[in-house]
Amino acid sequence: MTTVGILGGTGPAGRGVAVRLASAGYEVTLGSRDAQRAADVAAGIVVRGSGSIRGAENADAAGCELVVVATPWDSAVATVSAVRAQLTDKVVVSMVNALVREGKELLPIYPPRGSMAAQLAFALPDSVIVGAFHHLPAREMEDLDSGLDADVVIFGDDATARTRVAELVDSMPGLTGVVAGSMSLASAVEAFTAVCISINIRHKAHSYVKLAGLHH
Ligand SMILES: NC(=O)c1ccc[n+]([C@@H]2O[C@H](COP(=O)([O-])OP(=O)(O)OC[C@H]3O[C@@H](n4cnc5c(N)ncnc54)[C@H](OP(=O)(O)O)[C@@H]3O)[C@@H](O)[C@H]2O)c1
Repeated sequence: MTTVGILGGTGPAGRGVAVRLASAGYEVTLGSRDAQRAADVAAGIVVRGSGSIRGAENADAAGCELVVVATPWDSAVATVSAVRAQLTDKVVVSMVNALVREGKELLPIYPPRGSMAAQLAFALPDSVIVGAFHHLPAREMEDLDSGLDADVVIFGDDATARTRVAELVDSMPGLTGVVAGSMSLASAVEAFTAVCISINIRHKAHSYVKLAGLHH
């Protein structure tokens, strides 16, 4: 069984992923800058399923077999760089979106390398970066009774790692992994999150991505 660490896992995004991973039987470590805060957050999550959720420092979470990055975009590179050694030869999943709020809209920010996944790939040359979970609404993710039935767009240059992440996603209740292709798609996938959230703000909704026409 794969252990999964989530850097910045105490936020809504990390908690949502953790709940559904634990439900699928994974042992999840929520990483934080503050181990006590992570322990408190983990203790407040009701786990349903055979997995578990514990809290720890980010460095501890980075020791897991697969690691998800769930910090705000402007701290993601610094966070992974601090644990670069622990991430060597591992699949690192980025769910990070660089976004800025302008009035009623959320707009994408394009970092110098075009996407946050590319920024992380540059910061972690000895790891394999895969993008996933960008478009998911955190609150619905954390509530296993929300009825969520979402597709998760997955990208990355390593086909084996993409498939591994797709299998992980498929095992999570309410989610279906859809491999889109290479890292070249990263900026489009991340930027589309701004469209999703802006739609939800405008329509006072909690919509999410479900692709029509796929044969699962
Ligand atoms: N929210 C969503 O619905 C959603 C959905 C998909 C993807 N995402 C993406 O997932 C990421 C996290 O989203 P979120 O809403 O959970 O964000 P968040 O609550 O603002 O941040 C997540 C965690 O990151 C840590 N953090 C905050 N500032 C930091 C800093 N300067 N340096 C290091 N760590 C810091 C905090 O943990 P500690 O204080 O415990 O260290 C915090 O709990 C974002 O990149 C977002 O674009 C979000």
